[in-house]
Amino acid sequence: MTHFLDINTTDPADLRGIIDTARAMKTARDGLPKGTPDAEQPLAGHMVALIFEKPSTRTRISFDVGVRQMGGQTMVLSGADMQLGHGETIADTARVLSRYVDLIMIRTFEEQTLLEMAEYASVPVINGLTNRTHPCQIMADIQTYEEHHGPIAGKKVVWSGDGNNVFASFVHAAGQFGFDLTFTGPPTLDPEQVFIDEARAKGAKIEIVRDPVAAMEGADLVVTDTWVSMHDPQSARERRHNQLRPYQINDALMAHAKPDALFMHCLPAHRDEEVTSAVMDGPQSVIFDEAENRLHAQKAIMRYCLGR
Ligand code: CP
Ligand code: NVA
Repeated sequence: MTHFLDINTTDPADLRGIIDTARAMKTARDGLPKGTPDAEQPLAGHMVALIFEKPSTRTRISFDVGVRQMGGQTMVLSGADMQLGHGETIADTARVLSRYVDLIMIRTFEEQTLLEMAEYASVPVINGLTNRTHPCQIMADIQTYEEHHGPIAGKKVVWSGDGNNVFASFVHAAGQFGFDLTFTGPPTLDPEQVFIDEARAKGAKIEIVRDPVAAMEGADLVVTDTWVSMHDPQSARERRHNQLRPYQINDALMAHAKPDALFMHCLPAHRDEEVTSAVMDGPQSVIFDEAENRLHAQKAIMRYCLGR
């Protein structure tokens, strides 16, 4: 069973294959109306369940459109409306869904839910975000970086802000794709050490630099994300904002990165909180290419999972 659960648990050659497939599939449908079927229909006859236990705009729509372009059918399900949200076990849900659909994508809270779904499903399972990681996003981000500036290997990526789930998948990717990664943020919001230790063991250069100006030195790519994630308690909002304010990406901070550095954000963004509108809408920002590439990267991930 080929699941796509995380970047660190997917073979580096397979990850590279996914990026190459995503780029080729994007090129092949350049300029076509969004609803045009792909020339190849690798998901013809396939049914895909998209389960959301948290809100989503990009993940929901890009998976749905991607499946349809490849000839498959989707059902978008809210976890709260399923028996899953009313006490049915994840294991039983996984076994039942496997009788109806060919592929499951789930966005959930606890990583354990994803892992149990994958353990008991007899069809592939894709991680559409958990409290700990967001691998589909970072595959799209790598595709986006490489479209603009070529191979990411050996480049310097700087993450400013909360060491959250999206950052964790960047740490995984640093180990697998061989780029350098610097985290700048307050010590209370550091990423889990286990992510960093594992990426370092794979040879990645991961640094933690408290001073955001120093961190930006030589950056090829600058990334941030919301200061309060969906799984964070709203009661932490004010404290987080106070701690993270020095790490806002603005023109003054971007000026310390390389002049041609790119800016990325997985979106949704909180304009003028973690990043200024001037940077989001400025010439270095590739945020809408990132959002588009969710579609192409995930189509390639689904083909990989289904061996098609
Ligand atoms: N970046 C991302 O996953 O966006 P959504 O929450 O809208 O799916
Ligand atoms: N870190 C954010 C990412 C949203 C796509 C969250 O988990 O809410």
